[in-house]
Amino acid sequence: MSENQASLTAGGNSVDMPIKSGTIGPDVIDIRKLYGQTGMFTYDPGFTSTASCDSAITYIDGDEGVLLHRGYPIGQLAEHSSFMEVSYLLLNGELPSSQELADFSRTITRHTMLHEQLATFYRGFRRDAHPMAIMCGVVGALSAFYHDSTDIADPTHRKISSHRLIAKMPTIAAMAYKYSVGQPFVYPDNKLSYTGNFLKMTFGVPAEEYEVIPAVEKAMDRIFILHADHEQNASTSTVRLAGSSGANPFACIAAGIACLWGPAHGGANEAALNMLKEIGTPDRIQHYIDRAKDKNDPFRLMGFGHRVYKNYDPRATVMQSTVREVFAALNVQDPLFETALRLEEIALSDPYFAEKKLFPNVDFYSGIILSAIGFPTTMFTVLFALARTVGWVAQWNEMISDPGQKIGRPRQLYTGPTARDYVPLSDR
Ligand code: ACO
Repeated sequence: MSENQASLTAGGNSVDMPIKSGTIGPDVIDIRKLYGQTGMFTYDPGFTSTASCDSAITYIDGDEGVLLHRGYPIGQLAEHSSFMEVSYLLLNGELPSSQELADFSRTITRHTMLHEQLATFYRGFRRDAHPMAIMCGVVGALSAFYHDSTDIADPTHRKISSHRLIAKMPTIAAMAYKYSVGQPFVYPDNKLSYTGNFLKMTFGVPAEEYEVIPAVEKAMDRIFILHADHEQNASTSTVRLAGSSGANPFACIAAGIACLWGPAHGGANEAALNMLKEIGTPDRIQHYIDRAKDKNDPFRLMGFGHRVYKNYDPRATVMQSTVREVFAALNVQDPLFETALRLEEIALSDPYFAEKKLFPNVDFYSGIILSAIGFPTTMFTVLFALARTVGWVAQWNEMISDPGQKIGRPRQLYTGPTARDYVPLSDR
């Protein structure tokens, strides 16, 4: 890394700070000595100008619409790779050989079952519970079932808990769905692929043979690839922050799931399809565009806009073409797809969206595909969490393996009362 200097004059003091360069992307000013030398903090709510860590996993150029995992473009991975291969890549830094991929897939497959006692844990939830609520609870509870892999200082423990999380997430997600519809849980079938197994556990029933439709399996696998990692987004930063205190990985991933749930983040896929349903037909689009532009109306176009992408989200491009593939494979149509395409067209030709650089993001089209496959909207964010688990785990491992790792502890600009004396209750 080459190092230059940046200087800042504040409060009468001038401070020189190193500029650090990565392999690509903006340089960063290392401000760690700032407080010691000036007594001042930096102020950056929402972290719009703050790099929180070094990372070698994922790179995004939001202006150009570029997303690379370990250097490989997302479009190439979505077209040629598999979710298992991308998972190996994210965790290990390189694409696997055939033998490495076979070994990795076998290891993950061997961890797909859940402790049987967890089935009882599910039964404690209301049947109408949101599956994200169930997922938060069950993933957090894994640390009570698998405490033989929670020593985060031990690389073997970290590896086993990472594999367990990636392997068990489809089982947890499928069970959350089965519970909500009152059907029996379906055990994993290790003859199937990671994604085929998930589809069987979700849509299969013990009374009938379940046949995985290859085109649906491929589309689902691609959706998992598109969601696998996205550098230091809100949920990943949550996982890192939780992990920085030394919390166990199951607890950290549960924290990430909670953060992902919000409609400004992973919850947007559910919100986007609900919005398309509310709009209904193309003739009603303009009304919603006008609402999205109205500062006095809290309505936003869901599945539009991104903190980092100021260009078309490359994942949305792949998602849009996958809609057509799934429709062809299942021989279905959904008029909401036409509404979505028209909405995109109208929004992109509107100066409001052009000036603010608001483009469709990964969540805009994903709901249409998931709905065609048969998932209810409440499962959409669950599927996102399932796929993002590998990214969270890779980022958590990278952080814990860093010898310079410190607890994450931001500071603040205090705006509350200054010191004052306690007033006894009788005098108030
Ligand atoms: N519809 C209408 N206006 C929007 C939208 C939208 N979807 N998104 C942003 N804007 C406007 C804002 O009103 C704001 O306008 P202003 O500058 O006049 O105040 C401007 O664009 C910038 O928006 P911010 O909220 O400041 O941008 P930020 O980077 O903080 O937010 C976010 C990004 C949260 C994704 C936002 O675009 C949004 O709410 N989108 C809808 C929800 C969504 O699709 N989230 C999924 C993101 S992808 C993911 O997490 C997987």
